[in-house]
Amino acid sequence: MKSGLSRLKTLDLSDNSIEGPIPLFVGVEVLLLSGNKFSGEIPNSISQLKNLTALDLSMNNLSGSVPDEIGELSKLETLILSSNNLTGKIPSNLSSIRSLRRFAANQNGFTGLIPDGLTRHLNFLDLSYNSLGGRIPLDFLSSPTLEYVDLSWNHLEGAIPRDISQSLFRLRLGGNKLTGKVPSLFQQRSNLTYLELDTNQLDGEIPSELEICQKLTLLNLASNQLNGSLPKALANLSQLVIMKLQENSLSGEIPTEFSKLGNLITLNLSHNSLSGEIPSSISSLSKLSNLNLAVNKLSGPIPSNINELSYLIELQLGNNDLIGTVPRMPNSLTTALNLSNNQLSGPIPSHLGSLGQLEILDLSNNNFTGEVPVSLTQMQSLTLLVISNNDLSGTLPKFPHFVNVTYSGNNGLVKPEAVPTSPEKKKPNTVLIIIVSIVSAIIGVGLLAAFCFLVIAKRLYRVEDVGLQLEESPPQIINSCYITSDSIHKSNIDFSRAMEVVSNPSNLTLKTRFSTYYKAIMPSGMSYCVKKLNSGEKIFQMGGNERFGQELQVLGRLSNSNVMVPLAYVLTRDSAYLFYEDVHKGTAFDFLHKDSGSALDWQSRYSIALGVAQGLTFLHGCTQPVLLWDLSSKTIHLKSMREPQIGDIELSKVIDPSRSTGSLSTVAGSVGYIPPEYAYTMRVTAAGNVYSFGVILLELLTGKPPVSQGTELAKWALSFSTRVSHSEQILDSRVSSTSPAVHSQMLSVLKIALSCVSLSPESRPKMRNVLRSLFNAR
Ligand SMILES: *[C@@H]1O[C@H](CO)[C@@H](O)[C@H](O)[C@H]1NC(C)=O
Ligand SMILES: *[C@@H]1O[C@H](CO)[C@@H](O)[C@H](O)[C@H]1NC(C)=O
Ligand SMILES: *[C@@H]1O[C@H](CO)[C@@H](O)[C@H](O)[C@H]1NC(C)=O
Repeated sequence: MKSGLSRLKTLDLSDNSIEGPIPLFVGVEVLLLSGNKFSGEIPNSISQLKNLTALDLSMNNLSGSVPDEIGELSKLETLILSSNNLTGKIPSNLSSIRSLRRFAANQNGFTGLIPDGLTRHLNFLDLSYNSLGGRIPLDFLSSPTLEYVDLSWNHLEGAIPRDISQSLFRLRLGGNKLTGKVPSLFQQRSNLTYLELDTNQLDGEIPSELEICQKLTLLNLASNQLNGSLPKALANLSQLVIMKLQENSLSGEIPTEFSKLGNLITLNLSHNSLSGEIPSSISSLSKLSNLNLAVNKLSGPIPSNINELSYLIELQLGNNDLIGTVPRMPNSLTTALNLSNNQLSGPIPSHLGSLGQLEILDLSNNNFTGEVPVSLTQMQSLTLLVISNNDLSGTLPKFPHFVNVTYSGNNGLVKPEAVPTSPEKKKPNTVLIIIVSIVSAIIGVGLLAAFCFLVIAKRLYRVEDVGLQLEESPPQIINSCYITSDSIHKSNIDFSRAMEVVSNPSNLTLKTRFSTYYKAIMPSGMSYCVKKLNSGEKIFQMGGNERFGQELQVLGRLSNSNVMVPLAYVLTRDSAYLFYEDVHKGTAFDFLHKDSGSALDWQSRYSIALGVAQGLTFLHGCTQPVLLWDLSSKTIHLKSMREPQIGDIELSKVIDPSRSTGSLSTVAGSVGYIPPEYAYTMRVTAAGNVYSFGVILLELLTGKPPVSQGTELAKWALSFSTRVSHSEQILDSRVSSTSPAVHSQMLSVLKIALSCVSLSPESRPKMRNVLRSLFNAR
């Protein structure tokens, strides 16, 4: 396509909804067309764009194969083709573009072999989630400029090349059919930081030579056929944070030397054949939060000092040969304590009752004797207790109704007296029915009144009603579903009406990176907040509607006054809509940065901080922790000036980061709130959320937006704080000058905020500690 815009250097049309074939402008140097609905093939004539240095076609509907002519773009530095429906081979002559540094073609349907020499000039290559086959070329990983290679989830076979470049920082080869051994020829001063070779058919032993990779932070060799013992030398990987070796055939003992891995947060050795005792030195892994040794042949007692692991959230020791009694457990346990299928004996210790955050306790299939301690009924977070198949006796104490207790296979254990109180039981029920009917009558009258008002209002404003043109036709509902069990909401929410509302732009109340909000008044007069997930973001996986529905059902059961919980949803061809109670007075962003006239007072700011911290602590502490994908002052909705609610909690469940190109930092969250480590990790983390929360605290303290004049608030605040005497200059003086008490409280909160935005994720506090400190700052 010839065009008059021949002097155009950069054309950025990213993230629109443009359809049709891709537009080619001869002479352009940078062409960014990502996140549109361009379709058809990439034309041969692309070769006419001789000046092109960057071409981003990701997240469109392009199909067909990539023309060989693309290899004629001799100035190309960046080529991004990710998340389309491209097929055929990766053009082999891309390797002849000497300037090409970054090439991503992940999430397509490419087949055939990986071209020889493709990495010769590259820094960055992402071909994950395709159907590439054959072997990885021998010199593929040896290029001295190579930093990032992701070939995961293809059909690659054969061995992993032995020759690995010193500059390689991240290597992902998981989810293929690779065979042979884990490579051992790493170079001195290797930069390898992330090594993921999981879910392949690798065999042989784990090479001790891995110890040379002193920067290794993540080692994932899970789900292979590795055998032999755990090399002691791995204990020298002092930077290791995550070690996943589960689902192999590893044998022998857990080396006591592993206690040197002081940075370890996750250790997963489950589903192997490890034997011997659990070394008591494991208690020196002071940062460990996930320890999974389940399904092995470990014997001996559980180390009595295990309670020294003060960050432990989950402990899985099921299916081993452990003996002895249950020692004191760390109070930090949250997700699960699973000691099932061992030979543990003695009474169930009553001190387990002090694990106030623990949600799942499995003690089944052991030899426990005696009575079930009453203290277990005091565990405030417990939802599942499994004590079946032991030798327990006595009467099972009465647990709160939300605890699911499984206790079969204990011959001596009897149920609590089946209280034969049907007449007594009925009484409260009738009372309840009366209350319910009264309440519904009141609401009914209210609704009727509201409805009448609406009808009248409509009559009065008919002219205006007609004036709202520009409506598109309402999106067609493919699937709709109530999540809430509240019958009032169920009878009020009208899905078709909502679709009419969202097709009218005048009902739009707020747009954030991933969501658009509408106010929807239902035929009954009740108003709801309807949120559309922005369909331009191709990283959403609504495919498998069933899964989407299930995830939302789980979220719908959450109950916390500082969290916006969905009540219902609608799926249409290319979007999803979620329904919420209409509590929207505006976002924290609106009140802090929009209304410049009057500054929000400190009490409100502090209440917002506390409320958000409470909501976030709750979300992080769920059985399946809910991590926020986009936490910013724009996703904090205010019910009142003192009651914030966290929105957009479903994003991490419906976004698939692997559909994106490059790193998480390009897709997660909003600018200014994205923690620095997202540039190289691919996972949204709790520590990342703490960072974003820290930025919100800084906004509340300074009154400044997350980014101003190109500088991120967090970086600005950190640079100031190094000069202690200056730290109070950070504070919003309109607020800090109101009283000495406010001033000193703000300084305490500033300290918390700065710890939250620490550059290193490990040194950020956990949300529950942040919450505690905030309370203490009162
Ligand atoms: C991708 O292409 C294949 C084969 O041409 C086709 O069957 C499939 O429907 C396409 N998928 C999308 C999402 O367009
Ligand atoms: C550990 O491995 C098991 C088995 O593959 C898996 O189910 C579990 O999710 C893993 N846990 C962690 C924290 O990696
Ligand atoms: C406890 O662990 C065992 C072995 O890993 C597993 O089979 C079982 O499902 C776990 N129990 C619970 C309640 O998750």
